Amino acid sequence: MFAEQAGLRIEYDRTLATKENFIPTLTDFFLDPNAKGCNVTSPFKEQVAKWVNDLSAAAEIAGAVNTVIKKQDGTFLGDTTDGSGLVQDLLRLGVQIKDARILLLGAGGAARGVLQSILDLEPAFLMIANRTEEKAKQLASLIPRDNFVGVGFNQLIEVQLPFDLIINSTSASLTGELPAIPESVISSSACVYDMSYADKPTVFLQHAQKLGVLDTFDGLGMLVGQAAESFYLWTGYRPDVVPVIHALRSSL
Ligand code: ATR
Repeated sequence: MFAEQAGLRIEYDRTLATKENFIPTLTDFFLDPNAKGCNVTSPFKEQVAKWVNDLSAAAEIAGAVNTVIKKQDGTFLGDTTDGSGLVQDLLRLGVQIKDARILLLGAGGAARGVLQSILDLEPAFLMIANRTEEKAKQLASLIPRDNFVGVGFNQLIEVQLPFDLIINSTSASLTGELPAIPESVISSSACVYDMSYADKPTVFLQHAQKLGVLDTFDGLGMLVGQAAESFYLWTGYRPDVVPVIHALRSSL
C-alpha cells in the first residue's frame, strides 16, 4: 500500500531464517544488486546490529536493528524505527509527549527500542517500571538524566504524581497477563497505550477501561508507523499511514 501511494514498483517479501542460517540468508539477500534493504524482526534484531557496518544513534542505544539500509558505497546501516513508529502514532492520536509525565512498563527489547525517541520529545518525566527492578535500573542508566528513572513494580505504590501517559511494552499482553502494578498508578485522566494489538482490546487496555480511562490505544498504529519509517529510509517517501491502519484493522 505504501508503494502504491508512492507510485513505486517494489518487491517486499518474507523470509524465514533459522538461528544457524540467519547471516548467510542476509548476505544472500544482498547479493541481488536491486536489494535496497530489509526489515529484521525477533529474535534476530540484536544479531543484525553486530553485522551492519554502522548504527544510527537510536539503534546504538537500542542495541538492536529492525531496518537495514544498503548505502551508495555498498556498506550497511542499521537503524531502528520502532521508537519513531511509536511517537508518530502517539502524535497522530493527539497524545502529547512534550512536558508529559510518562510511565513505561517493561524493560525488555521493546522498551529499549523506544527510549531515545521518547526522550527526544522532552517529556517532563520518564519512569521505567519493570517486574525485575534491576533491568529497569540498568536501562535508565543507559541515558543518564535527572528526569529519567528506573524502578521495580513494587516501588510504584510510593509514586504520588499522576502519569499523563502509560505505555505497556511488556510481553504480558501476548499471553493475556496483566502486569502486576497498583491500580492507583492508572488515573482515569491518563492516556494508556499498549504496544501489543489484537482483534479486541488487550487485557491491559480492558483493565484501564474498567478503571475509567477513556483514552486507550493499542499498538497497531505503531506497527504501521515503524514500517512507514523503514519505507521512508529506503525510498525517501513518507507514506500516509492512516489508510493502511484502517485496512489492517478491518483484517484483524
Ligand atoms: P520484548 O522484546 O518484547 O521486550 P523481552 O526482551 O523478553 O521481550 O522483555 C519482556 C518484558 O516483558 C520484560 O520487561 C519482562 O519483565 P521481566 O524483565 O521482569 O521478565 C516483561 N514481562 C513479561 N511478562 C510479564 C508479566 N506477566 N508481567 C509483567 N512483566 C512481564
